[in-house]
Amino acid sequence: MLTATLHGAGRFAQHLLHAWLNEPDHYRLQHLCDEKLSLDTLADLLSNHDKLDFSAACPSIEADYLALTDSHGQRHRLRWSNSLDCAGDSQLWLECSGRHSRATNARHFHTGRTRHVLVSASCPGADQILIMGFNHSDYRTDAAVISYGSCTVNAFIPLAQHLYLQRNWHQAQVEVIHNSPTHANLHQPRRQHCTLQDMAPQLLPWLAPEQLHVSYTLIPWQGPSLINMRFELARPVYAHELTDLLAPLQSLYHFAPQDTGLNPVINSRYNAEFPLSEIELSGHWLTLKGYFDNENSAYRYHQLIQHICQQ
Ligand SMILES: NC(=O)c1ccc[n+]([C@@H]2O[C@H](COP(=O)([O-])OP(=O)(O)OC[C@H]3O[C@@H](n4cnc5c(N)ncnc54)[C@H](OP(=O)(O)O)[C@@H]3O)[C@@H](O)[C@H]2O)c1
Repeated sequence: MLTATLHGAGRFAQHLLHAWLNEPDHYRLQHLCDEKLSLDTLADLLSNHDKLDFSAACPSIEADYLALTDSHGQRHRLRWSNSLDCAGDSQLWLECSGRHSRATNARHFHTGRTRHVLVSASCPGADQILIMGFNHSDYRTDAAVISYGSCTVNAFIPLAQHLYLQRNWHQAQVEVIHNSPTHANLHQPRRQHCTLQDMAPQLLPWLAPEQLHVSYTLIPWQGPSLINMRFELARPVYAHELTDLLAPLQSLYHFAPQDTGLNPVINSRYNAEFPLSEIELSGHWLTLKGYFDNENSAYRYHQLIQHICQQ
């Protein structure tokens, strides 16, 4: 079992902790560190979480450790640090702070015993970008800095690849209406560049940048996010073909018959959820309107760690 240090204690890291407590068998979290948040604040955030239930984990502070109980009933003591002095102690550095999302910065943590730095975001210059269900089997043991993509990259790439292989497509439009945590103090919607625009042509060699149009808006809302995708297919899809076309994606995406709104998506382990009732077929255009729990893309990151540990 590999040992891991989790750097960052924000929303993504909290979701990762939750995933690990449910499935703790492949790696052992031994350190937690965040230079900004305190251990008291983290314990309080976990105990009063707005989306995740940590009650079975009974979070408590024991000196410099955060103590948590996993789903097997085993109590873990994770050493806490407010500095980066634990770099190099574990075999995996889980870079989830959002402060080292470029490979030149993340690579500093590839030191001592650390074999891989796994970045929880798009990471320019990473040795590998590994998307679960798309190219995770390409994992190389010599890759020092590995990116899991991002919430939006995970939502788009496997679907885009599947549609390309099945129908070919000329262009795609992706619209993301993305949440922001309360501590970000966003007071009005804000348009922002989306790293999907840069990452998709790297991951899909057949895609030219001008074939993809991404619109990304952050809004002051803490629930799950909205995601719509439109593909101009070379060969149109007819209504009676839709179920068969989407069936191979069912481990990664959820296609409920009806739209039941945003809230059922909370803690979803799917890359995105597209109600069948909201899928439109019009000539060569296929439009999917859905939702995703962007923060819980931490589950795909967790699966990637599990995959690496099993190799
Ligand atoms: N959230 C998502 O949906 C999501 C999805 C996929 C990937 N990611 C990636 O994961 C990385 C971390 O993102 P994140 O969403 O975890 O960021 P976050 O919640 O904003 O946490 C990042 C930093 O924000 C501060 N912070 C966190 N919680 C706080 C609180 N309750 N009160 C005050 N400050 C707090 C902390 O330091 P500071 O004081 O320095 O800000 C923390 O280290 C980023 O690279 C992001 O792109 C995020």
